[in-house]
Amino acid sequence: MVDYSFKEDFKYKHENPYHDKLGEFSDFVLRDHEAEAFKGLWNKDVFKREGQLFLEIGTGAGHFMIDYCIDHPEQHFIGLDYRFKRSFHLAKKLSALEFKNFRYLRAKGERIEYMFDENELDGIFYFFPDPWPKTKHNKKRLIQETFLKSAYKTIKPGGIFYIKTDHDDYAEWMDREIKKQSDLFEVILESPDLRSEYPDHLLAKYTTGFEKIFLEQGIQIKAFVLRSKK
Ligand SMILES: C[S@@+](CC[C@H](N)C(=O)[O-])C[C@H]1O[C@@H](n2cnc3c(N)ncnc32)[C@H](O)[C@@H]1O
Repeated sequence: MVDYSFKEDFKYKHENPYHDKLGEFSDFVLRDHEAEAFKGLWNKDVFKREGQLFLEIGTGAGHFMIDYCIDHPEQHFIGLDYRFKRSFHLAKKLSALEFKNFRYLRAKGERIEYMFDENELDGIFYFFPDPWPKTKHNKKRLIQETFLKSAYKTIKPGGIFYIKTDHDDYAEWMDREIKKQSDLFEVILESPDLRSEYPDHLLAKYTTGFEKIFLEQGIQIKAFVLRSKK
């Protein structure tokens, strides 16, 4: 059964105090369905200029988002995470930055096709997704048919989907799920040990908050780079 949050008529419901607190940052934070009003309009109405548009799902503490935005001031970047307190702490950090080539969404990654129009994104980053290791929870893993189809829809022809994980079992699951969608994406990089095999790759240039911990524990970073076959 497909998670209800993938469906068009899904309604966000919660009573989390950080939802209101995030309202303090309404100049760059959009909450729940607020982001969906800008489907197809991100460059025109939000950033108000032309530029490549990238999405990061599961932004966490924002290490990648901030470093990448500093390095790519000409691009537009949207960070997205569904955890409230983590979003609030990141919003505080983001509010101190002088540049504003980004927006931040407190929203669910399952809903990207309601936030972005067909071919609106140049690419997606998804780093260290929750692995949902118990078999009964595996269905919560985002990398699966419904999400891969949404990613394919929203990424423009030839656009890229970058993934990193620490988790061997989720990496094997991803490999199977991606192969099932081989009509949609070409796998242009797949590595069981990104840092040894591709030390000069863009994915190895940036270290996320969780990645730093995994590297200190000696865990090898698994990576996939998918190119849309559109
Ligand atoms: C293990 S953390 C990794 C955070 C960051 N990418 C890093 O590498 O440091 C996973 C993050 O993804 C977020 N996340 C997981 N599933 C999500 C979903 N379906 N929609 C939005 N955020 C999600 C979690 O709230 C969490 O902040």
